[in-house]
Amino acid sequence: MKPLLSLTAPPPSGEIVLCSVIIPRRLAPSLTARLRAALSDEECARHARFGDDGAAGEFLCGRALLRAVLSTWASVDQHAWRFALNAYGRPSIDAPPSPLHFNLSHTRGMVVLVLGVDPSVGVDVERLDRSVRPLEVADRFFSTREVDGLRALPVEQHRDRFLALWTLKEAYIKARGMGLALPLRDFSFSPDDAPPRVHFEASLGDDSRLWRFARIDLPSGHRVAVAAKVSRMRVHHEALDLDTLAEHVGLPGTVPAV
Ligand SMILES: CC(C)(COP(=O)(O)OP(=O)(O)OC[C@H]1O[C@@H](n2cnc3c(N)ncnc32)[C@H](O)[C@@H]1OP(=O)(O)O)[C@@H](O)C(=O)NCCC(=O)NCCS
Repeated sequence: MKPLLSLTAPPPSGEIVLCSVIIPRRLAPSLTARLRAALSDEECARHARFGDDGAAGEFLCGRALLRAVLSTWASVDQHAWRFALNAYGRPSIDAPPSPLHFNLSHTRGMVVLVLGVDPSVGVDVERLDRSVRPLEVADRFFSTREVDGLRALPVEQHRDRFLALWTLKEAYIKARGMGLALPLRDFSFSPDDAPPRVHFEASLGDDSRLWRFARIDLPSGHRVAVAAKVSRMRVHHEALDLDTLAEHVGLPGTVPAV
């Protein structure tokens, strides 16, 4: 059987594993049943509450992916992982003890997962063809600096810049674990820089020198941003296919390499 990941052990600090999986709009019932078997009762209940919503498949694939990947690097059954939520709803590993930290993001047709040993990691994925109203949303949510930069561009570049800013801002607020409790106007990205740079207003109480960001455009037409509070960051991308994931779901945990 093809291994799920090319990495056989968790990466060292500063290296972030990004797993992406393309998912169809509707999952076959047999595949849904297989993936659900890896989930906790609470996750299964949440999955059921989505009903016929397409987001059901994204949630299911995200949690099955998370459990399968974690068990690739630990002798823990996929079903045995327990997650706890912080006050803002961010899940993290509660049991068994693990040095790993993760963050998930999904959008129509795609699930992404970042993992590493550094606690503050965040990820966001968006479809490049999603319908957006760049100036309207930017005026509401983005910083003055970002809005001015967007307005200075030709209109045909608005969508691309908007999605670059949106994904980076989401990745950062998710890495902080606070979601929209953080004021989005109080930090600004320069997405044209490679790698992207951030500027924090004093009100945010953060230090831009402590953060690293990456933006990755996937061939499937999705844009991903990764944020991590590390001194150096390298993103190791694993593009997985759903069939391979399904084959690995339900397998026993792997004894970690020593
Ligand atoms: C919840 C939020 C953190 C991300 O939501 P989102 O963009 O709708 O969804 P994503 O698919 O990227 O992320 C969802 C995943 O993030 C994780 N998550 C939930 N709360 C989180 C938090 N506070 N911090 C970090 N991660 C969180 C969960 O794993 C969740 O997936 P799961 O429930 O399947 O496990 C929050 O930022 C939000 O509600 N955003 C709405 C979008 C928006 O208005 N953006 C403003 C423009 S920049």
